[in-house]
Amino acid sequence: MANFSPKKLLVTGGAGFIGANFIHYWQQQYPEQLIVNLDALTYASSLKNLENLPCPEQHIFVQGDINDQALIEQLLRTYELDTVVHFAAESHVDNSIKDPAVFVKTNVLGTYTLLEAARKVWLTEKNWQAQQCRFHHISTDEVYGTLGRDDLPFTETTKYAPNSPYSASKAGSDHLVRAYFHTYGLPTTLSNCSNNYGPRMHGEKFIPTVIRACLNEQPIPIYGDGTNIRDWLYVDDHCRAVAAILYRGKTGETYNVGGHNELDNLTLAQRLCGLLDAIKPRAQGRYIDLLTFVTDRPGHDWRYAIDSSKIQRELGWQAQGVMDLGLQRVIEWFL
Ligand SMILES: NC(=O)c1ccc[n+]([C@@H]2O[C@H](COP(=O)([O-])OP(=O)(O)OC[C@H]3O[C@@H](n4cnc5c(N)ncnc54)[C@H](O)[C@@H]3O)[C@@H](O)[C@H]2O)c1
Repeated sequence: MANFSPKKLLVTGGAGFIGANFIHYWQQQYPEQLIVNLDALTYASSLKNLENLPCPEQHIFVQGDINDQALIEQLLRTYELDTVVHFAAESHVDNSIKDPAVFVKTNVLGTYTLLEAARKVWLTEKNWQAQQCRFHHISTDEVYGTLGRDDLPFTETTKYAPNSPYSASKAGSDHLVRAYFHTYGLPTTLSNCSNNYGPRMHGEKFIPTVIRACLNEQPIPIYGDGTNIRDWLYVDDHCRAVAAILYRGKTGETYNVGGHNELDNLTLAQRLCGLLDAIKPRAQGRYIDLLTFVTDRPGHDWRYAIDSSKIQRELGWQAQGVMDLGLQRVIEWFL
């Protein structure tokens, strides 16, 4: 049974990878619902991600910054938005090592600004109750730190231990979301998910980097010895999880979302090479011959794994993605 029924959404970061996939997914499922998409259009975004939306007339794009509180308040009031789905972030770990400042500004201060705008408009001005509005924050499994080979996967009660400026800034934003629920009664929910893959991925991430190197006949860079393990989640599965949480999730709760799909980087790169051998063979040799080990990333977390049993048990969500099919879709999208 639904706890909440979203009617009009503010989606932040909807020109990025996951946000754009979410808007496509949402419009297929709920074509009557208005979406206001607030995105600063940083280097990680693309308006192409928003082409061919199922209901373009129900999508309003606003170029703007999540640190602009006056703008957010105005959007919440003007369109009577009752739901925030917050994807906007600086999301690439390597960039956070080179320049942490923008990560703190966007991920910590930007989330604070959104929470503050929602508190002001929904709770102070409109006096809305918990069942009338919802603030969903998208976070990452990286806030839990790193696992050894035999450690159990992260649960919602695993202690936070972020190791990169990126994960530390996401952890900070998660704590603010929690505090706004407990201190002000803002009806929030939070999800921590594993690595997403799917169409519209930004070129800087691992899977696109492998595909691009193959297509350009260049060395495929593998950090360290390639044994780092990630739990891969197909982006549509993630979108379904967010929908389940919005409708049926309990406020103040966190839900871990994973693909139940652990794979080390070297094996993943080899699989991509094999798929490309079949889809677009090289003139000579195999793509696997392009694999090249490069110096590891500083502080590189060795393994992430997610225990999704809570969202499965309480909200009936389960990952359905089949990895090779999903990877094939990413390759086709790149081609
Ligand atoms: N990609 C993953 O595998 C993954 C895994 C776990 C969690 N997440 C989280 O999911 C969310 C979306 O990730 P993604 O991979 O789609 O990111 P992305 O980098 O592809 O997209 C981020 C979007 O946010 C926008 N943005 C950045 N700063 C902004 C600002 N100040 N104001 C408004 N818009 C701004 C960008 O223009 C971009 O369109 C992030 O919060 C990320 O931390 C991602």
